[in-house]
Amino acid sequence: MAKPRLFRVWLALGSVLMILLIIVYWDNVGTAHFYLHTSFSRPHPLGSLPTPRQGEELEVAADAEVDEFLDKLLSSGVKQSDLSRRKTEEQPPMPASSRPALSRQEESVRGYDWSPHDSRQSPDQGQQQAERRRVLRASCANASLAFPTKERTFDDIPNYELNHLIVDDRHGVIYCYVPKVACTNWKRVMIVLSESLLDRGAPYRDPLDIPREHVHNSSTHLTFNKFWRRYGKFSRHLMKIKLKKYTKFLFVRDPFVRLISAFRSKFELENEEFYRKFAVPMLRLYANHTSLPASVSEAFSAGLRVSFANFIQYLLDPHTERLAPFNEHWRQVYRLCHPCQIDYDFVGKLETLDEDASQLLRLLRVDRRLHFPPSYRNRTASSWEEDWFSKIPLAWRQQLYKLYEADFVLFGYPKPENLLQD
Ligand SMILES: *[C@@H]1O[C@H](CO)[C@@H](O)[C@H](O)[C@H]1NC(C)=O
Ligand SMILES: *[C@@H]1O[C@H](CO)[C@@H](O)[C@H](O)[C@H]1NC(C)=O
Ligand SMILES: *[C@@H]1O[C@H](CO)[C@@H](O)[C@H](O)[C@H]1NC(C)=O
Ligand SMILES: *[C@@H]1O[C@H](CO)[C@@H](O)[C@H](O)[C@H]1NC(C)=O
Repeated sequence: MAKPRLFRVWLALGSVLMILLIIVYWDNVGTAHFYLHTSFSRPHPLGSLPTPRQGEELEVAADAEVDEFLDKLLSSGVKQSDLSRRKTEEQPPMPASSRPALSRQEESVRGYDWSPHDSRQSPDQGQQQAERRRVLRASCANASLAFPTKERTFDDIPNYELNHLIVDDRHGVIYCYVPKVACTNWKRVMIVLSESLLDRGAPYRDPLDIPREHVHNSSTHLTFNKFWRRYGKFSRHLMKIKLKKYTKFLFVRDPFVRLISAFRSKFELENEEFYRKFAVPMLRLYANHTSLPASVSEAFSAGLRVSFANFIQYLLDPHTERLAPFNEHWRQVYRLCHPCQIDYDFVGKLETLDEDASQLLRLLRVDRRLHFPPSYRNRTASSWEEDWFSKIPLAWRQQLYKLYEADFVLFGYPKPENLLQD
């Protein structure tokens, strides 16, 4: 049988390629140190090896070998800092205290070891994060909570579903953006951190200087779904390394309030794209309109607007999802960010945005360099919920809860009993 020999050849070839890839990778990461997550270290049940499927044993075994090889290489922290230092300065490593002040400062900007900062964090906030992450992990492990895609592994997630994970290699940060949850400003922060956008030759320093249209242009951000084109077959391995080593965060919000917010911004304001793509079909299907104007301003002046009830009916209609997956503005967070496959280090909430933002920037050790932009003042408030849902039939509200239940449970939002009972 040629199989074992083929396997060994493949493995050797794979290792060589991986070493090349790691060199490229270290170029990206720069001098970042890898003994991070001292205080946030945690078990990684989800970064586990893929389970072999029929006819794929060879490939899977080789993948497992590569993973193991990478793990070994990466778990020896001392060796890596030596490696990166040698690569950048070609001189013997100095003890930290005798390093020049400039490089120490740079380290404090770029490094991930945030243990000294923990003392500045109030115990309440630390506990709050621990509690949010505990709830998340417990819900993922709880068999009573079932939702589609819950049981798949990270390897089962198709690339195009990884398009909300923005990576910053300079600081080792991964942000999963959720539309309608302060994502414009967090994307701005990611642009400043990763220096991925230039303003007349120089990277932006102040998040608020970045024009909105650039913020939402996907070519501005390095997202996981782009790894395939850059790194081919090894993109998953690289993603897994980054998921293991980087600080991963997301921001969430009460799911029903998020829906109200999405409705307000996409259907109450004149939005040409959302009018054509969503409002026209909703008005046809759920409000019996046959001939509709071509532009949103004509429709608005003729008094033709989608109602919140039309919108809810659209969400509950099984045809909607059959035609295309939910638009990201109302797609469930568990489908955007895969919280049972990715072990987030920080779960921020819009309800506590200001505190969470400053806590997170401190944890990332960039709080002296940038401030989170002040939040939008006419934010959709939770107290409006009853008003908005008062015209929605009870049966619809209950179905809607089922549709978004996973987001409620995973992120610790209480079931809105007042809306779900007569
Ligand atoms: C699992 O979820 C069910 C239903 O929400 C709940 O009653 C139960 O207490 C949970 N179990 C654990 C171990 O959290
Ligand atoms: C996004 O940015 C790229 C590169 O800067 C540009 O070519 C493209 O036109 C932009 N797309 C939109 C929709 O603005
Ligand atoms: C739309 O028309 C159908 C039948 O033509 C009717 O049953 C339904 O009540 C109408 N809906 C609205 C919102 O007017
Ligand atoms: C805030 O939004 C509400 C609801 O859309 C609107 O009625 C109100 O006028 C807004 N307030 C300001 C100050 O813009």
